[in-house]
Order: sequence, then C-alpha cells, then structure tokens
Amino acid sequence: MRIDKFLAHKAFGTRKEVHDLIKQGFVKVNDTIIKKKDMHINPDVDVVTVQDQVVQAQLEYYIKFHKPTGYVTAVEDTTDPTIMELLPEEFQTLKVFPVGRLDKDTEGLLLLTNDGPWAHKIIHGKKNIGKTYYVEYSGNLSEDGVNRIREGMVLGDGTECKPAQITLHEDEGVLNEQGDMIHSCELTIYEGKYHQVKRMIGACSGTVTYLQRTHIDTITLDSIEEVGMYVDLTDKEKSIV
Ligand code: URA
Repeated sequence: MRIDKFLAHKAFGTRKEVHDLIKQGFVKVNDTIIKKKDMHINPDVDVVTVQDQVVQAQLEYYIKFHKPTGYVTAVEDTTDPTIMELLPEEFQTLKVFPVGRLDKDTEGLLLLTNDGPWAHKIIHGKKNIGKTYYVEYSGNLSEDGVNRIREGMVLGDGTECKPAQITLHEDEGVLNEQGDMIHSCELTIYEGKYHQVKRMIGACSGTVTYLQRTHIDTITLDSIEEVGMYVDLTDKEKSIV
C-alpha cells in the first residue's frame, strides 16, 4: 500500500496534508525518514511513525467525528449531502460506517467504524451506553414533564423511553431572533429511538431549537472541538464496550 494512502486511511489528513508531513520529514519507515510520497509499504511488517509516534497497522478503524448540521448520517443518500462527503474517500473503501445516527440538523459527537460487532455493542449491547445532549429549547418544561423524563416516559405514539437524566440550566434564558425565550438543559438517554430527544422534550411542552451530542459514555468532543474534525479513538475510548 502507498504510504500516503496508508496515512490518509489512518486519519492523518487529506492526501495533500499527508504529503506535507512527508515533506517536513515527520514520517519514518523502519526508522528512516522517507521522502517519497508514493513509497510502498507493507502495514503488517513495516513500522511507520509520524513524529516518532508509531502508527498502528490495524485493519479496524474507530473514529470520532464532530458532525456539523446540514449533513445526513448515512453512507449514501439520493437527496441530501452525507457525512461521508466530509471524511477521506478511503473511509468508503474501508467500509467505515456511522455508529447510530444524528439528525441532519443535529451537531456533535458521532462514532464511525468498520467493526460491525463493536458498533452493535455500542447500539444494542447489554451495557447501557449513555448519550448526552446539550439541548436548547423554547417553551417551559413542566415539573411533571421533567419527572416523567427521569422516570421513563411514554410518547404520544406509545413509544416507551427508558428513564433518562436531565439537568435544567437555571438561567433566565436568551431571547432568539423570533422573539422566543430559549432555555437549555443537559439530557442523557440510554437508547437511540427516532428523534428521541426532540420527541421527549416535545412531550413536555418544549420545542428543541438546537441539539448537540456532547458525550457517548466517557467519549467526548475533546480534540475534535470544531465541527468537521475527526480523530482515531484512543484504546481507552474504544474500550467503553
Ligand atoms: N435525538 C434527536 O431527536 N435527534 C438526534 O439527532 C439525536 C437524538
């Protein structure tokens, strides 16, 4: 495999960014600084380092991505742009896919992998993985509504939601351009039903105006603070399941 392709697969940036790393002498193969961006390597045998950090030759990929709004969480879509358009083309060849889904107008933490069993454990595993959202909403959440969110609620169409955690931010709120008073809260849910957060808040007389996923269990937006950024998961992050 070409070294530039390998490093792009490993999320070191676009091919052009990888070429810059090579030009700057940051990339070594078997302890020798390389100059040729089209050099062929065998990832199973050759030891590749970038700035003296070993690049693991794993075949499985685990990535966290800061999804922007305006993109659907899908590998392909006939009408809308997909998140895959924001990631290296190689991800498609490597069969990397999103783990779960964020709505087109939701931002935040999204995991991607090509490890099906791992993805399955995150979504449907025995361990209840908490997903935390920062929510802005108009309207007032009633005390009864907040209690129902905490105890486990049934939505209008009969969908049952497990008990969730909610922390209301006790401030005055902010007036938006439409003249609505916007409040915010933190909500952690342990499943991923269709439009779940919007529907839970809706069932308590609120309307979500902005939604951002901030955590999946202990995985956060650290090191992908800006939308569009992505990095490999650390071993510790991978081990949440
Ligand atoms: N709940 C929602 O309503 N939308 C999302 O994107 C994620 C959770």
